[in-house]
Amino acid sequence: LDNGLARTPALGYNTWNAYGGDISEELIRATADLMVSTGLKKAGYHYLVIDDAWSNLQRNDQGRIEANSDRFPSGMKAMADYIHSKGLKFGMYSDAGSHTCLGYPGSRYHEEDDAECFADWGVDFLKYDNCWAPASDWVIDRYTAMHAALNGTGRPILYSMCDWGVGDPWLWAPKIANSWRTTGDISPSWESMLRCLDNTIGLSEFAKPGAWNDPDMLEVGNPGLTEQEQRANFAIWAILKSPLMVGTDLRRLSKTALEILTAEEVIAVNQDKLGVAGDLIWKRGPTEVYAGPLEDGSRAVVLFNRHTSGTQYPLSNITVQWQDLGFENDVDATVRDLFARKDLGTFRGEWTGVVGLHDVRMVKISPTESSSRYKDWRPWLQ
Ligand code: DGJ
Repeated sequence: LDNGLARTPALGYNTWNAYGGDISEELIRATADLMVSTGLKKAGYHYLVIDDAWSNLQRNDQGRIEANSDRFPSGMKAMADYIHSKGLKFGMYSDAGSHTCLGYPGSRYHEEDDAECFADWGVDFLKYDNCWAPASDWVIDRYTAMHAALNGTGRPILYSMCDWGVGDPWLWAPKIANSWRTTGDISPSWESMLRCLDNTIGLSEFAKPGAWNDPDMLEVGNPGLTEQEQRANFAIWAILKSPLMVGTDLRRLSKTALEILTAEEVIAVNQDKLGVAGDLIWKRGPTEVYAGPLEDGSRAVVLFNRHTSGTQYPLSNITVQWQDLGFENDVDATVRDLFARKDLGTFRGEWTGVVGLHDVRMVKISPTESSSRYKDWRPWLQ
């Protein structure tokens, strides 16, 4: 969507993966404080998004949607002001059906009133869910109605569609939204993470500045994923140019999870100005290579090891070949490890990384001669 927002994927925090519907204004204030004190804000995470369960169960007598009187007694304007006072941006949540998934009022047929109300509160981001919609009410109409309503407010509001991939949104959403979901919900498990990933592979061509594929939010920091799996979640989401929405309890954030979330050279790939999404470019059995081009002509590359059995293959050697990146094979290129923030040397034609089970290596590969760059980074599509 050409509204000047999300020229690179949104970075932020969302309450759902950590808390579900168990949210309150104290919790949001504490989260805002922690986004600043942990360094997440400094690393680029600017949106703080309140997910489902923030409103009263009924609209008020005037039909207005209102903050939940028990959990947000100070109201949403005060919440917005607090979040803005921390230098963060404020995200809200609603639904393109009659109710949200947890049964609070949805915005269908109230789009203009609700968009107006969000704009009055100072909302900067809207996540728009897909529960409780009759099948006869076409998904494109429902999501377009809120697009028009947000546009009508005159306030720049990032529009994050949470359509779960219903109706192949990548085909129509780039015009009306800043991102769309490619999958159902993620949960903190290896299988769920792979499902979200597999539903997003092959969709890179639909992403561009202002319009991104969203394989759902991060599970980094949550029990259920090992450290290796958390790193894989982060690296692959980053190279696919997914929005990076943190979804873990910041009051109990481990050092390891914080290190993953603030890996600045990985975030730099996600936020690279060229804005071309990476994708799966090579696969042999459970070993995979993801790659994408960067503004400076180099390539970001993720090697991913899906091997599950530790006994036979505790480590895999995974090779990326220059020809698969759109580079001539006789070219010298430097390879830099993005999590370790370390140069690994200069290589010709290919580079092989050793990758542990369920783990990734993420590198940047930069040819030393500019003549070796193809214009199209996906030579196999030519
Ligand atoms: C379904 C969405 O996909 C989740 O991300 C979350 O917003 C829940 N609904 C809230 O009920």
